[in-house]
Amino acid sequence: MTSVTCTAPVNIAVIKYWGKRDTQLILPTNDSLSVTLSQDILHSKTSISANKEYAHDRLWLNGKEEDITKNKRMHNCFRETRALRRRMEDEDSSLVPLSTYPLHVCSENNFPTAAGLASSASGLAALVFTLAKLFNLPNSMTDLSRIARQGSGSACRSLFGGFVAWEMGSEADGSDSRAVQIAPDTHWPELEALVCVVSDAKKGTSSTSGMQQTIESSPLMKERLQIVPGRMEAMKKAILNKDFQAFAELTMRDSNQFHSVCLDTFPPIFYLNDTSRGIIQLIHEYNAANGGVYKAAYTYDAGPNAVIYASKEDMKEIIQLIAHYFPPSEEKKSTYFTDPYNVLQSKDSLGA
Ligand code: DP6
Repeated sequence: MTSVTCTAPVNIAVIKYWGKRDTQLILPTNDSLSVTLSQDILHSKTSISANKEYAHDRLWLNGKEEDITKNKRMHNCFRETRALRRRMEDEDSSLVPLSTYPLHVCSENNFPTAAGLASSASGLAALVFTLAKLFNLPNSMTDLSRIARQGSGSACRSLFGGFVAWEMGSEADGSDSRAVQIAPDTHWPELEALVCVVSDAKKGTSSTSGMQQTIESSPLMKERLQIVPGRMEAMKKAILNKDFQAFAELTMRDSNQFHSVCLDTFPPIFYLNDTSRGIIQLIHEYNAANGGVYKAAYTYDAGPNAVIYASKEDMKEIIQLIAHYFPPSEEKKSTYFTDPYNVLQSKDSLGA
């Protein structure tokens, strides 16, 4: 039996991926860019064993067995990595024919899946990376990102640490739709992320179905697709120059525009709740009180939980501010984190 265990981190987009031009290959309608969080805080851990004695492929997610035959996206990742392994075995007959062995996959998150954090990105990235290690594939991370993309779009960005772009590409077969690292995690150590768990409720509309509803019904989405290319360039520049003013404004504007296209979807999709909107207002008031100099920036994915970017220096004050205006409920305190603020705070710096 051959067995491998790997972990992959969560990434939080600052220029959002929302919309597919090909739902089978998972090809997006725009480029996106994210920051990979520290693995110490949030990660998915996947163990895979290959054994010719196993009857068939099996999957356990957070300790519970799932029907792997129903998981088409996971199947895509199996198919692609097995095909690469098969090619190696065809060329070298001394290799163990692992591509023909059934696999047992066991995956878990070190954070509550119900918290609505980006578990599919880290989960599918961990799956593809572990398969690549198990099969001893010589492929680059960018190659693997094309496979992880077919598991869950945002997963392709979790294969890299630091600041990562997903280039949408233009080829119909998706060969140029892949992730590339813009800067490593060591590039901007002063930048920190704070994850505020606003609600642990499972989101009503999944990203997968929500983004297609937006593509089909939102006129505003067409406008967004004109705006994103310029934003991507400006964001790359802001990151390379460690320009927090530009980074913060672009991050907040892009989050707001993403939630606006959700609202423009028909019927509308609501991901933010009153607490999320309260945090948006608080961050703007905090920045205004600092003479309009951005000290913090918020962003929200397809759910109400806030991620706040700020410098290490200012983060302590920001946590106190949020804890003051949005104190955690007693129930949350006991069922959730030991952290008194009901937030998961990134430890030191960002990065894989
Ligand atoms: C709002 O990657 O979960 O988090 O490709 O259908 O699996 P699928 O969608 P997914 O969508 C993530 C959307 C987002 C923005 C982002 O991460 O860029």
